[in-house]
Amino acid sequence: MAMEVRFENVSADYKIGPIRSPLVLNSVDVRIESGSYTAVVGYTGAGKSSLLKAMNGLLLPKEGQVAVGNLIIKPNKHKQALKTIRKRVGMVFQFPESQLFAESVEKDICFGPINFGVPKDEAKEIAKQVLEQVGLKQDILTKSPFALSGGQKRRVAIAGILAMQPDILVLDEPGAGLDPNGRKEIMDLIASWHRDKEMTTVLVTHDMEDVVTYADRVIVMEKGKIALHDGFEKVFSDLEQLEKWHLDVPDARLFQLNFEKKTGIVLPKVCLTVDDLADAFIEVGLA
Ligand SMILES: Nc1ncnc2c1ncn2[C@@H]1O[C@H](COP(=O)(O)OP(=O)(O)OP(=O)(O)O)[C@@H](O)[C@H]1O
Ligand SMILES: [Mg+2]
Repeated sequence: MAMEVRFENVSADYKIGPIRSPLVLNSVDVRIESGSYTAVVGYTGAGKSSLLKAMNGLLLPKEGQVAVGNLIIKPNKHKQALKTIRKRVGMVFQFPESQLFAESVEKDICFGPINFGVPKDEAKEIAKQVLEQVGLKQDILTKSPFALSGGQKRRVAIAGILAMQPDILVLDEPGAGLDPNGRKEIMDLIASWHRDKEMTTVLVTHDMEDVVTYADRVIVMEKGKIALHDGFEKVFSDLEQLEKWHLDVPDARLFQLNFEKKTGIVLPKVCLTVDDLADAFIEVGLA
């Protein structure tokens, strides 16, 4: 079941030994719609990972609150309540394979469900299913996770999160460090999971091609604040603003600008993907 996440005037910082860091989330007000696929973008240090952590209580608000469906994360939320939230919000960290630990793939995937009270046999069934869903063969279940390739490890780690059957999936750079094919496979896998389960999905990425290909909403973060939460056109039409945010311009948009400059023909809409370009060319009668 999809679910919305609402940040209501959330400010947060980190504890560094005896002192507190400056605010890493600064009066954040944003609503992530139920069933949406939202990309979170922004320069390094902008607070993207912190925003994700605040969605499952790994980072607690200092002020304000985060509502995950009807569950509320407030300052000083106690541990038991956070457990319910963590079951609901599945979080795939950057380089999630570094968290694999068990002696077999099966044990690793079953760990989460068993920890949340699923009987062992049922957890094993779930492990089989999610393994198939991430495109791995069953014979891998008995192997050590450490004996797998980088791409396989990444899939096992994602399978471990999916096995908890979260309502909301949040992912921090899930394609980082993989080759282009591996990246595309992981991204396609997440997209099909998002569609099939009608899940709320939140993706942090530096890759604007991922944003325009997979997401339907975008949040731009800057220095702990939401700089923009809006349609794509608005985000990608202002080049100066993009540069200020340190965001790349999608390839199709660059092509469009170059084409318009050279021919004087202005296409009827902002094009962010190859499909958009094809549609625009048909509309102006060039194809
Ligand atoms: N555990 C921590 N303790 C103290 N400060 C932290 C911690 N994690 C992050 N920060 C600080 O919080 C700010 C936001 O960091 P965050 O990791 O959320 O940024 P980000 O947008 O995800 O960056 P990147 O694109 O580099 O992953 C940064 O100034 C960072 O140094
Ligand atoms: Mg980060």
